[in-house]
Amino acid sequence: MIAKKKSASQAKSKTAPAKKVARKVEKKSAVKPVAKKATPKESKKVIAPEKEVLMMQPPRGMRDILPVDQPYWERIRKALAVACQEYGFNRIDLPALEYTNLFIRSIGEGTDVIDKEIYSFVTKGNDKVSLRPEMTAGLARAYIQHGMSVLPKPIRLFSTGPLYRYERPQEGRYREHFQANFDVFGENDPILDAQIIHLAQRVVSQIGLKNIEFRINSIGTAESRRDYEKILVRHFEFQKQKLCQDCRNRLVTNPLRILDCKEDKCAQLVMTAPKFADHLDQESKNHFKSLQEYLNELEIKYVIDPQLVRGLDYYTRTVFEIYSTDGEGRKTALGGGGRYDKLIQSLGGEETPAIGFGLGMDRLVLEMQRTQVKLHQEAKPRVFLAQLGDLAKKKSLRVFSELQKNGILVAESFGRGSLKSQMRAANRIGADVTLILGQKEALDETVILKDMVSGTQETVTQDKLVIAIKKVLKGNQAVVIKKDASFEAE
Ligand code: HAM
Repeated sequence: MIAKKKSASQAKSKTAPAKKVARKVEKKSAVKPVAKKATPKESKKVIAPEKEVLMMQPPRGMRDILPVDQPYWERIRKALAVACQEYGFNRIDLPALEYTNLFIRSIGEGTDVIDKEIYSFVTKGNDKVSLRPEMTAGLARAYIQHGMSVLPKPIRLFSTGPLYRYERPQEGRYREHFQANFDVFGENDPILDAQIIHLAQRVVSQIGLKNIEFRINSIGTAESRRDYEKILVRHFEFQKQKLCQDCRNRLVTNPLRILDCKEDKCAQLVMTAPKFADHLDQESKNHFKSLQEYLNELEIKYVIDPQLVRGLDYYTRTVFEIYSTDGEGRKTALGGGGRYDKLIQSLGGEETPAIGFGLGMDRLVLEMQRTQVKLHQEAKPRVFLAQLGDLAKKKSLRVFSELQKNGILVAESFGRGSLKSQMRAANRIGADVTLILGQKEALDETVILKDMVSGTQETVTQDKLVIAIKKVLKGNQAVVIKKDASFEAE
């Protein structure tokens, strides 16, 4: 009794601060969503908090990936596995949550990802953490933490998983999206930049996408970038009023991002802005020139895009993006990346050049569906196992397992008792062979084997069943081929 009382009071003293923290967390994490001005459509959707818990849908911008879409994802996963093998990448899995500071120091304040999109909160232990909005920061952290700098270079790492960005959801833009990342550490040579672009091309073509365009640019070393930013600020400063509000802020926080602003009025001003190419340091110029030579050698088509700067601060020199085009001017960014030669050092590691890219898997799927990529048919069961009666039901489990061990795919509906409905199920899957196990067969250790193509049936002992099935399947395949051949001959 006393013990009970004690634990109850302990529990109380534990929950009180926890509640406080929870309120704090709510307050913190709610700041951005609540501060955001609701669109008329959104404002109509305001729901009482207690009802919100009952809503049978995931949070906005997140979704289920249903079985019907899985074959597309599977095809992508297979292509990624092949690429890892072909180019010598080893997989690394990283936590979905990291300390917020890691992202701020890697991606940089003044970027949309940090200023607007990151999901951050304070844990019950008072740690400031964030759901990863991208992989590179966590990857750099892991590289340093596990002392990978002592490993033979280059170190090639593959990572994949969900990422979280509080963006305005639309088709192809989700608050939870999935990426596949390929990153190489410890190599400065531009041949690596070309190889990584080649890898990206290999994956997208392996999954059946055709109209692909690479856009490349060089944003120089950190120093030449700083110098160029000063030039840009001078250029835009006197026409500041003509820029959108975001770009006016960018003038202070991240002037380079003005170059890829999608607002018409900003794009107009960018046209007359000084070009980065004219202010690049000599080493970056040489690096970029070599990259182009390598890409030409690989016969990879690319467009040099002086406006391409990427939205993450850690990039230096080569940056690139992969687009799919539909011939009517619509472009979708399927992936992007570049060099980040200073990131490891800036996080406290040794100076380590690095290059990598991320492919947006959700967008790859959408593009495969839009362009009607044909998927390879997975092998389907050609044998159906039906059972009748309690003993037969029990024995059919053993038959199922035996066939499985012998590499025969079997469909069944163990939960059904009526033979009629099981035969209907066999017809539905287009089975070539139906096995019927009744009370008698269960006692005799036999099975009735029905050839669904010819309609004939025979009783087979269970120890000969595998051979008998294979014989019928082989025979039926020949019939199908023969039928097709005669059809063609007609
Ligand atoms: P990123 O350009 O931010 O790069 O993202 C890479 C790709 O992820 C995009 O091109 C796009 O296909 C997809 N993606 C991004 N945001 C969303 C979203 N909200 N919904 C659906 N798809 C999205 C990076 O994240 C870098 N960390 C890549 C990298 C790896 N750089 C070096 N190594």
